[in-house]
Amino acid sequence: MRVSGCLLFQFMSPTKESANFYTLLQRRLHWLVIILLIMQYALQEPMSEAMARVGRQENLSFLDFLVTTWHTWSGICIAAIMIWRWQLRGRHVPPGAGKLSPMQSKLIQLHHMGLYLVVGVMALSGALHYYLDVALAGVWHEFTKWLLLGLIGVHIAGALTHIGNGDRVFQRMMGKDSLR
Ligand code: HEM
Ligand code: HEM
Repeated sequence: MRVSGCLLFQFMSPTKESANFYTLLQRRLHWLVIILLIMQYALQEPMSEAMARVGRQENLSFLDFLVTTWHTWSGICIAAIMIWRWQLRGRHVPPGAGKLSPMQSKLIQLHHMGLYLVVGVMALSGALHYYLDVALAGVWHEFTKWLLLGLIGVHIAGALTHIGNGDRVFQRMMGKDSLR
C-alpha cells in the first residue's frame, strides 16, 4: 500500500527532472506551427499568383481556390495556436536549463516574445489585406515575411548550438526521450 501510494505520488507530482521540459502539449503545438509555417512559405508563389489573378479579374482555377483557402485558413490556425501557446506559456515555462546569465535569459525571453509578435502581425496583416483589401497591410505582410524568416533563422541557429553542449535547452523542447 505504501509502495503504490508512493508511486501514485510520483506520478502526480512533477519531478525536478520533468519540470525541465516543456509539456507534451506545448511541444506538439511548437512542432505543428513549424509544419504549418513551412507550408505557408512553400505556397507563397502560388498564393501571390492567385492574388494577382484576382487583381486582374481573371477566373481562378480550382488549384487557386485550394491554395488561397489553405493559406488563409492555415494562417488563421497558426495565429490561434500561437494564442493558445501564449496562454500555456503563462502557466509553464521550464526553469533555466543551462548556465545562462540573467541578461542572456532576458534576451531569450525577448526573442520568444518577438516570435509571437511577428507571427501575430503576419496573420493580422494577411487578414486585413485579404478580407478588407487594405493595401498597406499587403506591404506589411511582405515585409514581415522576411522579419519572421530572420527571427526563425536566429532561433534555429541558437537552438542548434545547445545540442551536445551539456545543457538541456534543446532537449526541453524535444522531450525526455531525446536524452536516451
Ligand atoms: C502567420 C501566418 C502567415 C504566414 C507565415 C504567411 C506567409 C505569406 C507569404 C510568405 C506570402 C508571400 C508574400 C509575398 O512575397 O508577396 C503571403 C502572401 C499572402 N498571404 Fe499570407 N501568411 C500568413 C497568414 C495569412 C493570413 C491569415 C491571410 C489572410 C487571411 C494571408 C493572406 C495572404 C495574401 C492575400 C497573400 C498574397 C499577397 C499578395 O501577393 O498580394 N496570409 N503570405
Ligand atoms: C527546426 C526548427 C526549430 C527548432 C529546432 C526549435 C527549437 C526550439 C527549442 C530547443 C526551444 C526551447 C528553447 C528554450 O526554452 O530556451 C524552442 C522554443 C520556442 N520556439 Fe522553437 N524551434 C524551431 C522552430 C520554431 C519556429 C518556426 C517558431 C515560430 C513560431 C518557434 C517558436 C518558439 C517559441 C515561441 C519558443 C518558446 C517556447 C514557447 O513559448 O512555446 N520555434 N524552440
